[in-house]
Amino acid sequence: MPKVIFIFDKAKETIEKIIDAETGQNILEIALDNGIGLAHNCGGVCACSTCHVHVLEGMENLSEMTEEEEERLDKAWDLQLNSRLGCQAVVSGNVKVKIP
Ligand code: FES
Repeated sequence: MPKVIFIFDKAKETIEKIIDAETGQNILEIALDNGIGLAHNCGGVCACSTCHVHVLEGMENLSEMTEEEEERLDKAWDLQLNSRLGCQAVVSGNVKVKIP
């Protein structure tokens, strides 16, 4: 069972939440199932980039990025080399992500 660690700011505090996820779930699904506020304006169909996260560890445990995701990510705020769209990144092992 993959462990997914989310790091995010809430009320000026940095919170770290460790979640046991199911293989095959994407980062957005895991966040929403566990009450973590990851934006998803398009509903998870790779059409907005609001579900953008920075992958701090475990990039190799995420599904490969598609061309569609790459194009969409180009429009994301605070884009980094380790950026992924939560709705497109499917988990197969341990991952640590930060919500920018
Ligand atoms: S929720 Fe819109 S791109 Fe992921």
